[in-house]
Amino acid sequence: MRHRTALALILLVLLTAGLTSQSPVRTLAPAVEAKIDSIIRLMTLDEKLGQLNQIGGTWYDTKTERLNEEQTALLKAGSIGSFLGVTGAAETGRIQRIAVEQTRMKIPVLFSADIIHGFHTITPIPLAEASSWNPALVERSARVAAMEGAASGVHWNYAPMVDIARDPRWGRIAEGSGEDPYLGSVMAAARVRGFQGNDLRAFGSLLACAKHFAAYGGAEAGRDYNTVDMSERTLRETFLPPYKAAIDAGAWTLMSAFNEIGGVPSSGSPWLMTDLLRTEWGFKGMVVSDYTAVMELMNHRIAADSTEAGIIGLSSGVDIDMVSRIYLRKLPEAVRTGRLSMAVVDEAVRRVLRVKFAYGLFDDPYRHARPEKEKELLLSKEHRAVALAMAHQSVVLLKNEKALLPISPTMKTVALIGPLAGSENRRDLVGAWAWAQRPEDVVSVIDGLRSKLPAGTRLLYDRGCEISSDSGYRAEQAVKLAKQADVVIAVLGESQRLSGEAASRSDIGLPGRQLELLKALKSAGKPVVLVVMNGRPLTLQWEADNIPAIVEAWHLGVEAGNALADILTGAVNPSGKLPVTFPRNLGQVPLYYNHKSTGRPFSVKDHYTTRYLDVPNTPLFPFGHGLSYTTFAYSALTVAKNEITAGSTLDVSVTVANTGTRAGDEVVQLYLRDDVASVTRPVKELKAFRRVSLAPGERTTVTFTLTPVDLTFLGPDLKPRIEPGTFTLFAGGSSDAALETHFAVVP
Ligand code: GLC
Repeated sequence: MRHRTALALILLVLLTAGLTSQSPVRTLAPAVEAKIDSIIRLMTLDEKLGQLNQIGGTWYDTKTERLNEEQTALLKAGSIGSFLGVTGAAETGRIQRIAVEQTRMKIPVLFSADIIHGFHTITPIPLAEASSWNPALVERSARVAAMEGAASGVHWNYAPMVDIARDPRWGRIAEGSGEDPYLGSVMAAARVRGFQGNDLRAFGSLLACAKHFAAYGGAEAGRDYNTVDMSERTLRETFLPPYKAAIDAGAWTLMSAFNEIGGVPSSGSPWLMTDLLRTEWGFKGMVVSDYTAVMELMNHRIAADSTEAGIIGLSSGVDIDMVSRIYLRKLPEAVRTGRLSMAVVDEAVRRVLRVKFAYGLFDDPYRHARPEKEKELLLSKEHRAVALAMAHQSVVLLKNEKALLPISPTMKTVALIGPLAGSENRRDLVGAWAWAQRPEDVVSVIDGLRSKLPAGTRLLYDRGCEISSDSGYRAEQAVKLAKQADVVIAVLGESQRLSGEAASRSDIGLPGRQLELLKALKSAGKPVVLVVMNGRPLTLQWEADNIPAIVEAWHLGVEAGNALADILTGAVNPSGKLPVTFPRNLGQVPLYYNHKSTGRPFSVKDHYTTRYLDVPNTPLFPFGHGLSYTTFAYSALTVAKNEITAGSTLDVSVTVANTGTRAGDEVVQLYLRDDVASVTRPVKELKAFRRVSLAPGERTTVTFTLTPVDLTFLGPDLKPRIEPGTFTLFAGGSSDAALETHFAVVP
């Protein structure tokens, strides 16, 4: 151990230089920084606090969007620095003109919005997009969202949501990229690039906002807003990496989370917002609180009144107060009575002005106030095409017994059943956080199938039941149709309101009487395809045991019906992979692939090992799982060298072949296990992946290059290190990959 530690310490020096990479978001040119300081010197205390004050609008209803008298007076007094949910090129332009021409300091305002997965062209929910394991396409999807938001006057996008989530009861698992820090980091960076574009000052670039800092997805029992309590190790190794990845990709802003972490609310945490974010990570951008999160410090009972809440929030490093107006109303007195230093206020104002300068708002405050762009860009053909491509690659084929799918052209009668199949529930197909969305823009499943099924196919349809309520149960009618059909397609799942914020569920099975309906359909004796449209992993044990084909379709956005029809008819071969584990039952949760060994790893031969009496430890469908209409075989997993020194790289190759009868995409995944270390390490960790397209019979060798960062972990002192010893590599089409090889790190 002494030898190991000695070497580890040497490596610590090597690595520290590399791992604490500085964010691209830095202080601006000295002349600009000087200009910012000169503006601050001219501002009154009220004007300074006005820059830290954000008010809410009418939530994207551009027809009725109008500031009321009180808001207009605040704006003219220089008491508003930014708006939330105010959109529309004309109206944002009108408001900006007041800010720039009728206030004393003439500082432009920022318009912010939640454009999580599309603005009018709603793309698949982020959890679905992560299922594509295609960061380039996810970046294009984010670009579409940014262009449409910009066309409607938005400057600042409250996305990407990068919270790691391991508990499917949590409704906001829909908004992130699942359970894995590496996949989550790759997707976070892709979305930041997509939102911010190549030039932050160009039309169509939106300021990105990585949220919710931090560890919001760690809520106990998956109950939204609930307590988060985890070790600093888990926080740093699992939950923090995607925020850091977003910052390293150039995100200029973060949003502070509602939750506490181990006794300290994030939105009042100096350790999180200053020591870690600014001092350790060197972040020079700005932090906005989540909605009323500053006021909520009183609910957390760490502030006796709103003034104290404001002092704690601002002093911790939360620069902008979203809609609780505490900074504006309570902090002038706090400064005047010496409870809050002017220097703290000035530093927050400096950060806000730095972002506004970096974004080019002083040079062109009206950059996104161009109504002609709204007509040109919103729901354009090109944007819909991106949404369709994204939806195609987001769909995960979970099961396909005897190749029931794609629907054979010999199947002349198709019974389409389910509350998410018809046109009545189109709004549900776009999922959570689709504020500007209109149902008439969504292609339903029935519409998609009508246009894609072979001519002459008879398509029968019945709702069968409601999504959640017991009323409207029509299994009898649905079964009658099923009996007339050659195949039954059941489209079941969750409504929009069962997913997203404040939508935690204590039972994550199919809601309402949907499972009852599915069992009735199965009794009709015809082959049944289950399509699930949901915003979280569901418990699907009966379905997996009894239904031959299961398609995980998530909430796919405006092109849902077309994408699904393309996949069900075989026009497109599904290629998605799960970014999150599907448990067999809720009792297993939290259940994730990169778990620890424990001192008693499960063994079928030894009762006294980690297990349940009533269910296997294994998931129903593992992280990384996803089938295709073709098959793939892996071979020749090899390392370029069996031994490397700690600071060097290592090439790892694996061959994948299309052993089936049709072309398809496969996501090749590489996992690593540090066999023995000075702290316990996960049984495996995703370190790289690549999507490959292969014709039938074609094979390719994929080579990954492992770097020292991939071998680095936090030692007992929570400092990054690599230790000598053996490592195991796994490669394949899911986290269950069996192909393995080994190498060693030598001193
Ligand atoms: C909400 C969400 C946050 C969102 C904000 C503004 O409560 O937690 O994700 O960006 O308010 O809408």
